[in-house]
Amino acid sequence: MQLFRHIQPLREALASERQKGKTIGFVPTMGNLHQGHIALVELAKSRCDVVVASIFVNPLQFGLNEDWDKYPRTFEADSQKLIEVGCDYLLFPDEREIYPNGMAEQTRVIVPGMTDLLCGATRPGHFEGVTTVVTKLFNIVQPDEAVFGLKDFQQIAVIRRMVEDLCIPVAIVPGEIVREDDGLAMSSRNNYITKDERPKANQLRKTLCWMQEAIQQGCRDYLQLEIEGKSQIEAVGFRVDYLQVCCSDTLTSAGVDDVELTVLGAMYTQAARLIDNVSLTI
Ligand code: PAF
Repeated sequence: MQLFRHIQPLREALASERQKGKTIGFVPTMGNLHQGHIALVELAKSRCDVVVASIFVNPLQFGLNEDWDKYPRTFEADSQKLIEVGCDYLLFPDEREIYPNGMAEQTRVIVPGMTDLLCGATRPGHFEGVTTVVTKLFNIVQPDEAVFGLKDFQQIAVIRRMVEDLCIPVAIVPGEIVREDDGLAMSSRNNYITKDERPKANQLRKTLCWMQEAIQQGCRDYLQLEIEGKSQIEAVGFRVDYLQVCCSDTLTSAGVDDVELTVLGAMYTQAARLIDNVSLTI
């Protein structure tokens, strides 16, 4: 695997791959890689000739009181995992490389509407940080395809909308959620879950599956389902941020006539905010 700290030499290496007719797959990450990320690299490898990963803990997508400072930075272990999975190129830039004019002066990319919902309601500015950095990374790597994990369902929906609206020639490929044995979705933020909380941390997943089952059995009172789902999670001691039955493509609250549904949830443990989702067709 070739490691690049700077944009220009990576661009030159990728231009030479393109000249040879190779397709380029891209997996952007913030590091602290787990099996979920590795599965995304494997998916990119199965679809493209050359795979580029990036590791950049993007300050622009963290709120003032969020965990940017303590977000786990594990570069040595991450690069070892990427070598083992057969990633070809790794971009590991510092903040000045990505934001040479400073963050305050940075041109922003804004996807209106959808970014105010769900995670966007609790984390104002978060998606603006994501779409801005992803646009920059797309312009640096110019991949044919980019792979994103479905755990961040709203992130994929927002990026898809951005790519469509701005005519960015990159195919967005979703990668399945990888889970621990008890169903907890793998996430770098699972490191923040305490030992005492861990046995109950899969409650969000359990509740989402229960809601999915109820809908499949014919329940269409989504509001009631959301209320009951919230009390299940609160009953084991976690605070719910949101739990909502949504239309899969717009992420607005689903109505009885909607067919493609995604139930999305976010809950707080003492030190972590965990998200998960399930999709279904009725
Ligand atoms: O999903 C993530 O890890 C980040 O939001 C991303 C896409 C790498 C942008 O910083």
